[in-house]
Amino acid sequence: MTDPQLVLTERVQQALGAAFGAEYTDADPLIRPSQFADYQANVAMSLSKRLRRAPREVAQEIADRLADFPGTVEVSGPGFLNITLSDDWITAQANETLADPRAGVAQTGSPQIVVIDYSAPNAAKEMHVGHLRTTIVGDALARVHEHIGNRVIRQNHLGDWGTPFGMLIEHLLDIGEKAAVAQLEAGEGNAYYQAARAKFDSDPEFNRRARSRVVTLQAEEPETMRLWHIFMNATVRYFNKVYTQLGVTLTDDDIAGESMYNPVLAQVCDELQERGIAVISDGALCVFPPGFTGREGQPLPFMIRKSDGGYGYATTDMATIRYRVQDLKADRLLYVIGATQAQHMSMLFASARIAGWLPDHVHAEHVQIGSVLGSDGKMFKTRSGESVKLLELLDEAEVRAAEVIRDSDYGDEERREIAHAVGMGAVKYADLSVSHDSEYVFDFDRMLALTGNTGPYLQYAQARIRSIFRKGGVDPAQATGPIVIGHPAERALALRLLGFGAAVAEMAENSAPHKLASYLFDTASAFTTFFENCPVLKSDVDPAVRASRLALCALTLRVLDTGLGLLGVPVPDRM
Ligand code: ARG
Repeated sequence: MTDPQLVLTERVQQALGAAFGAEYTDADPLIRPSQFADYQANVAMSLSKRLRRAPREVAQEIADRLADFPGTVEVSGPGFLNITLSDDWITAQANETLADPRAGVAQTGSPQIVVIDYSAPNAAKEMHVGHLRTTIVGDALARVHEHIGNRVIRQNHLGDWGTPFGMLIEHLLDIGEKAAVAQLEAGEGNAYYQAARAKFDSDPEFNRRARSRVVTLQAEEPETMRLWHIFMNATVRYFNKVYTQLGVTLTDDDIAGESMYNPVLAQVCDELQERGIAVISDGALCVFPPGFTGREGQPLPFMIRKSDGGYGYATTDMATIRYRVQDLKADRLLYVIGATQAQHMSMLFASARIAGWLPDHVHAEHVQIGSVLGSDGKMFKTRSGESVKLLELLDEAEVRAAEVIRDSDYGDEERREIAHAVGMGAVKYADLSVSHDSEYVFDFDRMLALTGNTGPYLQYAQARIRSIFRKGGVDPAQATGPIVIGHPAERALALRLLGFGAAVAEMAENSAPHKLASYLFDTASAFTTFFENCPVLKSDVDPAVRASRLALCALTLRVLDTGLGLLGVPVPDRM
C-alpha cells in the first residue's frame, strides 16, 4: 500500500488504539489534504467529547504515539494534527511504484464475479444519449473490475421483446425485408417505429395483423421468429456501429436481451405465486415488498403479471436476477440504468430478496445514471425537437475535435485518427467526470476545451509527456530513475502519483468513475506545475536530476495512460 492518505489512516488508527484503547482503532481519523502541511487529521476534535478531554490534549496524545512516523506531526490550533511526510519516505515509495508495472494498483486476492448490466438500448426505438451514458459508464466499470482482477460478465439487456414487436414485424412485411434492413442499419429506428405506429392507430386491418403477430411471437412460432431475427440483426448492426465508434468493449456475446427470458416468465410467476410471495390483486399478480407505500399509505404492487395475463419489465427483471445469481454465480450485480428507474430497481431488489433469489451475500446495486440535458435544461433533443441521432452526434464530435487540433502539421490520415480519439475522448469523459447520478448539460464547447477537467486536457497532458520522450530520444520504459526529490513541484507530483492505486480501488468499490477522473485531473495539473518549474531536457540539467525527472515523467505517463484506459478514453500519441 502506497497511498499516503491510506497509510496515514492506518497509522493514526494504531496510535488511537495505543492511546485510548482498542475500541478506538476503527474511528475515522478524518485525514484531509491541507494547505499548512501535507495532511491534516481532525480526529482529536471529534473524539474529545467522547473522551471528556480537551481536544489539544487528545491531539498531543496521538502525536506522541506517532513518534516513529516517517515525517513530522504537529499539534496546531484548537487540536488539529498537521502531518508532513518525509522526503525520504515519498522518494522510497515513488521508486517502488515506478518499478511496479501496475503503478501501485493492487490485484484482488479473492476475485469476485461481477455481472454488469449496461447499455441496453431498445430495438423498437432510437438509441438516445441516455443510453450513450449508461454504455460509457458501464463500460468503464467493466474495465476497472477486470483490471483489479475480478471476473466481469457483461449483460446487454436489449429491449428486444414485447407487444410493439407485433406491429414492427408486420411493418417489415409491408415495406419488404430489404428496405427494412437498410433503414434499421442506418439507425432510423425511430422513423420505422413511427411509421408502424401510425398504421397501427389508423388501419384496422394492420392493427388486427399486428395483434395476432404478437400471439405467434409469444409462442415463438418459427416464421415469426425468422422475421424477428431479421429485424433484430439489422438493429444490432446499428448498435454495433455506435459501440465501435465509441470504442466500447461490448460484443454480440454480451447480448442478453429481454427475449432471452421469455421462456421462463410463466415459471417465474408460477413459482412466486405458489410460494405465496406474489398474490393476485385486482386480477394482476403482484409482489408487495415491505416498505413501499403509495401516497395514501397503501402498499405498492410490484406487478409481475398484468390482469390481461401479459408479462412486463418487472417480470423479466425478476428473471434477470435469478439467472445472474443462480446461473452466472454473481457475487455482485451492477445495474447501470437511468436514475428515473430508481423505484423499479429498489422494488425489484426487495422482491428478489424476499423470494430468496438475491441472497444476503450477493451485493446488488443500481448505478443510477443522471439525465443528459440540452442547453435549455430539458431532455437533450435536436432543435426541431426530435431525439438526436447518436452516430450523427458522434460524427459531429469528431468534426469539432478536428477544429481544436487544427493548427498542427499532421497528414490527413493522422489528423483523422487524432480527431477521432479527441472527439470520442471528449464525449466519454464528459459522462465520466461528473458523478454518475447527477444530470449535466451536453455542451460540445465545454467538453472539447483544452483546459479544465476535460478529456482533451488529459489526452493533451499525456501526449505532451510522450513528446518529451521523443525529443529526448528516450524510451519511457528505460526511464528507471532513480527518483530524487529536490524541487517542491517534484515532491507534490510524486506524492500525487502514490495515490493512483487508491483512486482505482475507490472507483471500483463505489462505482464512481468521476473519482478516478478527478484524480487524473489533479495529477495532470501537478505535472503541469512540475513541468513549468523543472526543466527536464535542458543541457545544463545535472544527469542525475535529468534521470529523476524523466522517471517522474514516465510514471506520470503510465498513470495517465492506465487511468484513461480504465475510463475507456483513448490516448493519442500526438495531439
Ligand atoms: N431497455 C431499458 C431502457 O431503455 C433499460 C434496461 C436496463 N436493464 C434492466 N435489466 N432493466 O430503459
